[in-house]
Amino acid sequence: MCGIIGHIGTGNALETLLTGLENLEYRGYDSAGIAVQNGSGIAVQKRSGKVDELKNSIGDRHIEGNVGIGHTRWSTHGPPTDENAHPHTDDTADVAVVHNGIIENYADLKSWLRERGHEFTSDTDTEVIPHLIQYYLDAGMANEAAFRRAIDELEGSYAVTAMLDGEHVLYAARQGSPLVVGVEDDEFFLASDVPAFLEYTDTVVYLEDGDVAIVDEDGVEFTDLAGESITREPETVEWDPEQAGKGEYDHFMLKEIYEQPTSLAQAIEGRIDPENGRIALEDFPSGTFEGVGNVQLIACGTSYHAALYGSLALNQAGIRATALLANEYSVTAPPVDDETLVIAVTQSGETADTLNALRQATAAGADTLTVTNVVGSTAAREADDTLFIRAGPEIGVAATKTFSSQAVMLTLLAQRIAADTCGEPPADLTSLLPDLSRMPAQLESMLVTDDAARIADRYRDSQSYFFIGRGLGYPVALEGALKFKEITYEHAEGFASGELKHGPLALVTPNTPVFAVFTGDEDEKTLKNAEEAQTRGAPVIAICPDDHRAVEVADRHIAIPATDSELAGLFANVQLQLVSYHAANQLDRPIDKPRNLAKSVTVE
Ligand code: F6R
Repeated sequence: MCGIIGHIGTGNALETLLTGLENLEYRGYDSAGIAVQNGSGIAVQKRSGKVDELKNSIGDRHIEGNVGIGHTRWSTHGPPTDENAHPHTDDTADVAVVHNGIIENYADLKSWLRERGHEFTSDTDTEVIPHLIQYYLDAGMANEAAFRRAIDELEGSYAVTAMLDGEHVLYAARQGSPLVVGVEDDEFFLASDVPAFLEYTDTVVYLEDGDVAIVDEDGVEFTDLAGESITREPETVEWDPEQAGKGEYDHFMLKEIYEQPTSLAQAIEGRIDPENGRIALEDFPSGTFEGVGNVQLIACGTSYHAALYGSLALNQAGIRATALLANEYSVTAPPVDDETLVIAVTQSGETADTLNALRQATAAGADTLTVTNVVGSTAAREADDTLFIRAGPEIGVAATKTFSSQAVMLTLLAQRIAADTCGEPPADLTSLLPDLSRMPAQLESMLVTDDAARIADRYRDSQSYFFIGRGLGYPVALEGALKFKEITYEHAEGFASGELKHGPLALVTPNTPVFAVFTGDEDEKTLKNAEEAQTRGAPVIAICPDDHRAVEVADRHIAIPATDSELAGLFANVQLQLVSYHAANQLDRPIDKPRNLAKSVTVE
């Protein structure tokens, strides 16, 4: 989820590249770089930090040429340092490459290249690509053949753009990460997102998976990886450049909700082996958690709901685990012993409350692990270990895709911890993992339905909104209510469904719709609780698969796909995100920046 820009044209590419990088910066990047054919080789300049820091670092350096590539990075392998910023080059700096995605077999490729004398200067997976291209050039292959051969070796997802010294050509390839060509007379652009070059052209050609594009001053040739010519038709995009950061969406929040098939695919990529029922979390090989006897998960807000989800998954897997509000931890922390693992769950990695709790746990002698979206964040640096959720930048203040990715990663972590401490994975991974690998595609299909929008419209004038769930549905109910109140400013509460009758039922009226989440955890009881509210006049909206018994009982229904009970709540959560979004939109709320809230809360 980084940003790519490339340009071949008549003028100096540098300016177009820097403008393109600035256009991509809305995505919130941590380092940037460019490479330009400078007449006497490829000039590379790169820096950690924002594009402005890259610009300052260029200063008076003479970089001029009409072919170049640029990149803004969102770290997935290695912290945001100058060395890890793209473009990456081979030993001789004859090949420069920018890349989005994850190369799953980079470690194998790296050691294979090392054995053949290649030296690496970064922690990234990307750096193997220019070295591979160089290897095949040295072996006597022509430029285009060397590029194809190197790409053919890559496993994982990628959008790659490469440039070789001495020729005015850009090579591009796509597998699982977006890449688009922009065309305007004799100017050609390559980018991960249209906004990168929208002020220069609105004529675009999207690459599809398996496509290679070869761009020179005369035009673009599209082929498959084997070199067979293919046709890709140009399209005209009708976007206002001002709005372009959000693409076709009115708000970042909606864009990020719709990004979840991609962000989840990226989270699990290379980490699960559904066929053999295995989980492989890169820094946590089998045996890592052998001594763990109990787990404390610390977090705030939405991340706390993900932590609660994780703690329940751990409990169900037979591990003693508790989710704790990080801001309460200093007064309520349970005792820590040498078997305690403390997991900080924080998408930003900068939340002051969570950092304080993490420091307290470290001081008490616990082993610590951070689950976060931000490589190089304080929580990632301070914990003993880190598990990255790879959700990509989240701009909307209301967390959406990061919750889903946190919950999925904690579910996998729970199975890994349980496997180490109990000897074998307690859940049936041959059922969970195939369902997890299907999740991105199922989410994609679910996101084209309009159930959530219709329900938001139907109940738009209600007085209060209740959300109930049991087991793994409980954190989803809490999160549904938090999202709703946060962006609509309407009153919303989440409850464990069994709690409704212990007090909240007194508030129930025909004006309090009750959203009931069914995950397969004692659904009959949840249905009974929902009926108790219904008997008092409240409309019940069941969130469950189409063939669920709750559909007959409830007043309305929002459909989710049939799946493993460990995952059902995550589909329900996405539907509830959409309900909140549409309700807030009808009320004309400032959805991406709700009043009084900030994306990262760095004060206690
Ligand atoms: C709500 C939301 C917040 C955050 C909370 C913790 O939509 O985003 O509740 O979840 O402030 O933030 P992180 O995850 O950055 O620690």
